Amino acid sequence: MAGLRVLVLVVLAGALQAVGAALPPPERSYNILMLLPVSSKSHRNVFMPLAKALTQRGHKITMLSNQPAPDNNPNIRYIENPSKHVDTDKVNAFEILGSPEKMFKTFTELIPKVAQEIYKVAEVADLYEKRREFDLIVIDALFNEVMYPFTHNHTFMTINPGELHPSFSASMGNFLNPAYVSNMLENYQHPFSLLDRWKNLIMSVILPFHWERAIVTPVQAEISKQFPDLPRLDDLKRNQSLTLINSHFSVGQPLPLLPNQVEVGGLHIGPPAALPKDLSDFLSGTTPVVYMSLGSIARSSAMPQEYKDIFFSAFAKLPYKVLWKFEEKPPKKAKNLFVQSWMPQQDVLAHPNVKVFISHCGWLGSQESLYFGTPILGLPIFGDQPKNALALEHAGVARSLAWADLNEQRLMDSITELIENPKYREKAEKISAAMKDRPLSAVETAVYWTEYVIRHQGAVHLRSPERDLTWVQLLHLDLLLLLHVALYLVYLIISKLLAFFCGGSRSKAKRMKGKRD
Ligand SMILES: *[C@@H]1O[C@H](CO)[C@@H](O)[C@H](O)[C@H]1NC(C)=O
Ligand SMILES: *[C@@H]1O[C@H](CO)[C@@H](O)[C@H](O)[C@H]1NC(C)=O
Repeated sequence: MAGLRVLVLVVLAGALQAVGAALPPPERSYNILMLLPVSSKSHRNVFMPLAKALTQRGHKITMLSNQPAPDNNPNIRYIENPSKHVDTDKVNAFEILGSPEKMFKTFTELIPKVAQEIYKVAEVADLYEKRREFDLIVIDALFNEVMYPFTHNHTFMTINPGELHPSFSASMGNFLNPAYVSNMLENYQHPFSLLDRWKNLIMSVILPFHWERAIVTPVQAEISKQFPDLPRLDDLKRNQSLTLINSHFSVGQPLPLLPNQVEVGGLHIGPPAALPKDLSDFLSGTTPVVYMSLGSIARSSAMPQEYKDIFFSAFAKLPYKVLWKFEEKPPKKAKNLFVQSWMPQQDVLAHPNVKVFISHCGWLGSQESLYFGTPILGLPIFGDQPKNALALEHAGVARSLAWADLNEQRLMDSITELIENPKYREKAEKISAAMKDRPLSAVETAVYWTEYVIRHQGAVHLRSPERDLTWVQLLHLDLLLLLHVALYLVYLIISKLLAFFCGGSRSKAKRMKGKRD
């Protein structure tokens, strides 16, 4: 009897390990097109687990990206976009530090160029011709407006590699109230003060306009030249069936989402793998380990010497071990320092001895750190990183330092505080537990909804009627205007009546008074 029970448990555990075992079997093999030609490697890393899981369920994937093929999966056809103007390997993060608009400007200059060229690339033109052969198109929601012509009269969905931006949500018919939802570049502590609400309201209005003017309008102009009969890109985007959001209420904030806005936070986080021997030897023992990585954009070659000096001398004085993703040899040998140009980051963060993650606070790395319950020391550089760092601080799992204020003492104090004060780790572990406690894993959730959209021919029943309202209707501006007019008319009528009855006797009295004089 006991043997049978063990056998059943073993079989069950085996079945649960296969991706999507908890899902209904697919009705047939689908043909899916993923479009992310204006993306970073990290965005591609968000698409890959879904693509791979879909092929494991018998579907075929075609992926257009500006990154080289990451594997040789026979069920994924990779097409590399040669019109790659966004080469993050050439961006110098430390140059951007002083002028954050610079990074945005690179995008606003490059994206219209991509729009100009991409449909002239033979493979892309071919894909465009054959778009009807696909059951579903999946587009990267950020910076890939140029791909919306593919979606005309077609079923498509998007993936948000990061948070759901309020303006993106509004285009799907879910206006997120800026009284409690921060705009795409800032983070305010809840509950928002009067001043914060004012600042957030202004930014929530200005940022989407700026985005529209700087990115969408030039792309629209290019696309209109090439596809004169197409609806506007904004209208095409509005017709999406569903969006997968690589965020989760346990790490961000709870939002009122539509049935077609599905959280798959941690989609890019895979099951932990064994560490290479040298790394696992270094990590073992009882000494706490500090792990530092500024991502792929802030390379050591670009780091000003003064910062290198601060890190090396602070690390040498710490009573901890330090693991640093850094592309250069350290100036002098230090027993407690392990430097390597690439790190299996998720597996490092999963190691119980890693007690703090010094990070630029990119969205994906921050989620990995929380998933594994590791507190963060933020050194944000650009884009959404300062916002993420603040949000992590507000959540009680991080401290952050501005590059301008960085010195040896501050760095050492912050690291020591994060390791010695247990409150940060306790909070991070709480978030980690909540992030993992879900009915389906992130990948399974993503697979389920991707198949669902195809199964239900675009699943139009998920869409919010708010999509079809204008701002005037949504904010009841027409009704308010009407009420004001009605109230004014009532006021006019009453004052005329009063003038007739009371005013009449008053003017009689006046006339009498005038006669007496
Ligand atoms: C797209 O659909 C509309 C109506 O839904 C139709 O009038 C139009 O001809 C279609 N266009 C293409 C290119 O299929
Ligand atoms: C809008 O989406 C539906 C469902 O996916 C699709 O059938 C229709 O053709 C799309 N309309 C346009 C104009 O793209």
